[in-house]
Amino acid sequence: MRFENKVAMVTGAGAGIGREVSLTLAREGADIVVNDIDPAAAERTCEEVRALGRRAQAAQGDVSDYERVRSIVDEAVKVFGRVDILVNNAGYVDIDEGHPEDLRLEEWNRLVAVSLTGVFICSQLVGREMIKRKSGKIVNLASTAGLVGLPSATAYTAVKHGVVGLTKALAIEWGRFGINVNAAAPGSTLTARAEKYFKDDPAAYADRAARVPLGRLAYPSDQAKLIAFLASADADYITGQVVVADGGTYALYAGFAPPK
Ligand SMILES: NC(=O)c1ccc[n+]([C@@H]2O[C@H](COP(=O)([O-])OP(=O)(O)OC[C@H]3O[C@@H](n4cnc5c(N)ncnc54)[C@H](O)[C@@H]3O)[C@@H](O)[C@H]2O)c1
Repeated sequence: MRFENKVAMVTGAGAGIGREVSLTLAREGADIVVNDIDPAAAERTCEEVRALGRRAQAAQGDVSDYERVRSIVDEAVKVFGRVDILVNNAGYVDIDEGHPEDLRLEEWNRLVAVSLTGVFICSQLVGREMIKRKSGKIVNLASTAGLVGLPSATAYTAVKHGVVGLTKALAIEWGRFGINVNAAAPGSTLTARAEKYFKDDPAAYADRAARVPLGRLAYPSDQAKLIAFLASADADYITGQVVVADGGTYALYAGFAPPK
């Protein structure tokens, strides 16, 4: 019960990794502010959190909308008294952007707004509350695309490198307030969307899994365990770090495959 009496705000918590993180933190005692742009998805996760015996508050909103996030944070503080943990998870994986010479500016701007500016907005507004209390844990969702380039994902690669930079900048600024800021960098993770894609194309899954030293893609629970660790007191002396959970892929020299 590492999160007893803790309040966590998880963005993009209606599906995928964010939903799994919410349930993992709740299982260990946390009450959850469940943000998602999709109100029905946020409500579904809230019901699952409540079924675990914890309190949950649905907070519909787009993380790139400053005023909306401000009211979500104000409401969370009113209801729960504080926010101890912020998981900046909201975003969407678009690994089919096409090539940079054809990328539409609107697509670039939208990805930057949600997956980078949104991380800054939530961090600033929740961070101000954490500064008052001189404690807090922030975990940002980067990606292995925050460390190396991904084909057909120019904006995604740039944005996730930005999340890594923002993580380090916030960590060095807010260490003096007792706030830890770290990033989790997932490799390919089998969210419902990815599972559906691979179900239609099992050969593609076999090909991808064969490139992973641990022999499989990640489950959302693999990422949730890492994020929970970074959000817990077990990580009290860790800040400004990017921790990769990719089954060893990033450790492998590009162009090679692990032994069969
Ligand atoms: N799945 C992967 O393979 C993978 C790999 C590396 C990094 N990541 C990162 O993990 C995070 C979660 O990814 P996922 O695969 O679980 O995604 P997902 O698409 O399964 O879920 C994302 C959730 O975020 C919500 N959302 C989208 N835009 C939002 C916005 N503007 N404001 C609030 N909520 C919003 C969606 O409604 C959805 O419920 C993302 O930051 C992603 O870049 C995922």
